[in-house]
Amino acid sequence: MSVTATADFMLEPILDANKDAGASRDAIGLGHAAGKGLNTRHGTLLTLEDISVSFDGFKALNDLNLYIGVGELRCIIGPNGAGKTTLMDVITGKTRPTQGKAWFGETLDLTRMSEVQIAQAGIGRKFQKPTVFEALSVFENLELAQKTDKSVWASLRARLSGEQKDRIAQVLETIRLSPSAQRQAGLLSHGQKQFLEIGMLLMQDPQLLLLDEPVAGMTDAETEFTAELFKSLAGKHSLMVVEHDMGFVGSIADHVTVLHQGSVLAEGSLEQVQENERVIEVYLGR
Ligand SMILES: Nc1ncnc2c1ncn2[C@@H]1O[C@H](COP(=O)(O)OP(=O)(O)OP(=O)(O)O)[C@@H](O)[C@H]1O
Ligand SMILES: [Mg+2]
Repeated sequence: MSVTATADFMLEPILDANKDAGASRDAIGLGHAAGKGLNTRHGTLLTLEDISVSFDGFKALNDLNLYIGVGELRCIIGPNGAGKTTLMDVITGKTRPTQGKAWFGETLDLTRMSEVQIAQAGIGRKFQKPTVFEALSVFENLELAQKTDKSVWASLRARLSGEQKDRIAQVLETIRLSPSAQRQAGLLSHGQKQFLEIGMLLMQDPQLLLLDEPVAGMTDAETEFTAELFKSLAGKHSLMVVEHDMGFVGSIADHVTVLHQGSVLAEGSLEQVQENERVIEVYLGR
């Protein structure tokens, strides 16, 4: 099934948008970057079809269809309670859908995998609140993030290989924390802690990064850097970014999905969804 074919399941505005998405991915050479032996069909990294989640009869997600391309940077917007965080919970295995399909690549059925298996398969998630080890240095936080199954102290005592050190240096550079490598993480600004946590995710080299309201509470300069960072990560990774800050969304997104009452209301470029009457009515026009 190709991206275009899967669009048959979708509402009309989405159909057109998805055709564009497939074409533009080809145009900028994405869709070829899937790594680590993950099978991706026609450049689709994540496939969600007919996903529903019920909480005591209330449908937080309702027949949701969503496709994320390899290397794509997708923004998810929508009013409070639309189901954005629940969507991330489903992808990471925290919440099981009551119906629907969720595939990572062509072969991994996310609905049958544990949270740990999903993380190990290459899906990294950043929650809204930074969760770094405050008492450890920035470097040590990154060092820990690349280890999976050892205790904290065993990991810190173990010798790092040259390759591992290089990787940490590279990530420090990416998140602009090289000068603060030896600084205690608890002393960083809120924004820097957020960058450190993104760095910790990057140590695992995930193919899909889920970021829930990443710029909430950031300064303008930090928000600007986050936009640059995400744009530089796209292509190598796929990113799904939930954000209410429209200025930020406008600065990064080439493709936006609007959620409303647990379903996809519209999809397309930010300009396209901003012109959509229903989107204006339920979200932007408030
Ligand atoms: N564990 C749960 N039990 C019951 N209801 C829940 C649960 N988790 C979420 N909900 C409900 O599901 C709906 C979707 O919530 P969700 O957190 O996914 O929205 P959201 O789009 O992330 O909103 P926001 O923009 O405010 O973060 C809400 O009405 C919420 O109250
Ligand atoms: Mg939320």
